[in-house]
Amino acid sequence: MAIGIVILAAGKGTRMKSNTPKVLHTISGKPMLFHSIDVAKSISDDITIILNHQAELIKERVIEVYEGIKFHIQDVANFPGTGGALRGIELADKKTLILNGDMPLLTKEALDMLLNTDADIAMSVIELEDPSGYGRVQIENDKVQKIIEEKDCTPHELNIKSVNAGIYAIKSKILNNSIPKLNNNNAQKEYYLTDIIEMGVQNGLNIVAVHGKEETFKGVNSKIDLADAEVIHQRRIKKAFMAQGVTMRLPESIYIESSVELEGECIIENGVTLLGKTKIINSHIKTNSIIEDAIISESSIGPMARIRPQSDIKRSHIGNFVEVKKSTLTGVKAGHLSYLGDSQIDEGSNIGAGVITCNYDGKAKHQTIIGKNVFVGSDSQLIAPVKIEDDVLIAAGSTITKNVKKGSLAMTRVPQKIIADFFYKFFGSKK
Ligand code: UD1
Ligand code: MG
Repeated sequence: MAIGIVILAAGKGTRMKSNTPKVLHTISGKPMLFHSIDVAKSISDDITIILNHQAELIKERVIEVYEGIKFHIQDVANFPGTGGALRGIELADKKTLILNGDMPLLTKEALDMLLNTDADIAMSVIELEDPSGYGRVQIENDKVQKIIEEKDCTPHELNIKSVNAGIYAIKSKILNNSIPKLNNNNAQKEYYLTDIIEMGVQNGLNIVAVHGKEETFKGVNSKIDLADAEVIHQRRIKKAFMAQGVTMRLPESIYIESSVELEGECIIENGVTLLGKTKIINSHIKTNSIIEDAIISESSIGPMARIRPQSDIKRSHIGNFVEVKKSTLTGVKAGHLSYLGDSQIDEGSNIGAGVITCNYDGKAKHQTIIGKNVFVGSDSQLIAPVKIEDDVLIAAGSTITKNVKKGSLAMTRVPQKIIADFFYKFFGSKK
């Protein structure tokens, strides 16, 4: 393989203040490391991830989703730092692209710019008003001279606003030669990968700085960075859907995970949350509804509806305060205040306000099957397992415990009693 990609992810991520490894924190529902892997995969299948801290946990999560990724455990005790991370790994024959596991906003276009140079080393540079936290890049007459890590900067160097984004495309031969030559004579006593620049300059190599946008190369080091990066990522997701023809009301208030699909003409109102492998086709999702791992097509949902995993809703209207879980609804109206779980409801059926499928008996979950053209009166409970055949009328306020045959009325109400003038007898007569 001509291009090999190395993703650095062995750092401790101390500034995240979390027991979860830094690179497993999510942006738009996907671990940061997976964002790096996905962009890497758009370029090459030769991918090596460098791990150390919580390596087993990270590796397990990666192999659940990806095949063919190589892992290398960095010897952090003896060779700490980004330069130490690259010791002892086998490199692809031509170029090595070095990415970080904590840069979830990287794009293929930005990486292509680094790869499309003939330079011995192409490095990414961004211009920042506030360069703090980054290595400063010393550039003289348009030529990169060296990278100085913040902790090693003189007060004068601290003012440099060109910073190292930390992404490089390097000829593998050069990397192989320079990694063993790095030393740790610096403030952090670490092997800095960044030192290969100065070394390269001394050896007369062709080093090119590729200027990129701050947004693309944003690194995540804290929970604040994580939230900021997610805002940027969310904007990208929503802009792409709007460009595709989706209407969004107040898009800044909408949250859509990266695995969600929207097809055809959809309207997504403010405050909507779409999670997991949700797929929405030609539907209208109204204010403050939340949908997770569900398929919605030709339907209107909400406002304030909750559609939970494994629901498949077609040509239906789901109104306010309706919760649906693991249910298949086709051509159904459930306008208000219902819980429909482990159910299957067919064409033309109407679910009245306050209807509950009692799917759980305290031990196991059971199915509620409702056929076509069934009218379930308000405030009824369907005690599962139960089957309601086509063309059935269930009287409001019924508790249905037995199956109901086609064409019937089912009613479990206590007959209404009228005692005339009881009110006056009880509270005393007005007269
Ligand atoms: C690094 C760069 C700095 C650049 C910045 C951009 C070095 C010496 N400095 O600094 O010039 O401006 O990135 O974000 O390279 N990692 C390992 N093993 C280690 C240490 C780190 O794999 O021993 C990984 C981390 O998991 C992370 C990446 O390398 O994904 C960068 O490490 P980090 O500690 O964030 O480096 P910075 O101090 O940000
Ligand atoms: Mg960093």
